[in-house]
Amino acid sequence: MKRLILLFLSFTLLLLSGCMPDVRQTPEEETTLITVGFSQVGAESDWRVANTKSMRESLSEENGFELLFDNARQKQENQFKAIRTFIQQDVDYIVLAPVTETGWESVLEEARAADIPVIIVDRQVEVSDPALYTSWVGSDFRKTADEAVAWLAETLDAREEPDAQVQILHLQGTPGSTAQLQRSAALEAGAARHETWTITAQLNGDFTQAKAYEETRAYLQGNPVPDVVYCENDNMCFGVMQALDERGIAYGTGGVTLITFDAVRTALSYCRDGKIDLCAECNPLHGPRVRAIIEQLERGETPEKQSYVPEQLFTAGQITDELLESRIY
Ligand code: AHR
Repeated sequence: MKRLILLFLSFTLLLLSGCMPDVRQTPEEETTLITVGFSQVGAESDWRVANTKSMRESLSEENGFELLFDNARQKQENQFKAIRTFIQQDVDYIVLAPVTETGWESVLEEARAADIPVIIVDRQVEVSDPALYTSWVGSDFRKTADEAVAWLAETLDAREEPDAQVQILHLQGTPGSTAQLQRSAALEAGAARHETWTITAQLNGDFTQAKAYEETRAYLQGNPVPDVVYCENDNMCFGVMQALDERGIAYGTGGVTLITFDAVRTALSYCRDGKIDLCAECNPLHGPRVRAIIEQLERGETPEKQSYVPEQLFTAGQITDELLESRIY
């Protein structure tokens, strides 16, 4: 937007001074890139790596962008620092993938004061004034999680003993992130609706395989084997599988029911092989939408405030070789 206004002002000044610009562009003008500062949460999961790749590919020099990338290593303070640096560098746009929902008011106010539009991706921000950001692109976390919980209810109902007690172990992602809040809320609501369901423990795996492995390993040392493990992302599910393997506990078809979110290629192949029961997709391909939003803003248009990426649930029967081969994350 700032670029548009500047261009308009320079053109008007030239017109007023009577010197019409030469229509041919100098090589310098031809290569003017749109600068975008991207504050990414981290590299905690395969999903996150795919999300970074999608942004890098879409906001490439070839496409007319200069991308300044910052990895916050899962810390909000690092995101504040990155955004303030982007403001000092006077970037044209800021893209923020926020680690948690709260705490963004001040830094977004600073971006607004500097007249830099902010596009939020993936998780949401909770702010009193929605005008503090221009657009948001991401998943309908609650809808997908409700669908996953509905799948669990149907699957349990179809068992030989539908009234049997069900012990559910719950691996949670980074506390306060939209993905954690919504996925947890869906499971808790499901448990409240089903008398036979008990969430035996909620363990913080921080969306990483290593932490989920450690937490599950410790849990299994002092507790009975759960009937279901609800993992709020694939990498935590891999950590759970590692801990179950170590104790020789069967999972997937004929064992502990495993539900996971993201549906990255590795998880989908486990699902096809009967090791994971349900993969609820979380689509990380935000890059093309962010690019389209910036291009709309450059043309002076108003993009949608919220835009959801398409997602679905996968069970073994839906996963073909073609799907796995064509999966880009
Ligand atoms: O916010 C999206 C979540 O964050 C993904 O499910 C997870 O893998 C990532 O780390």
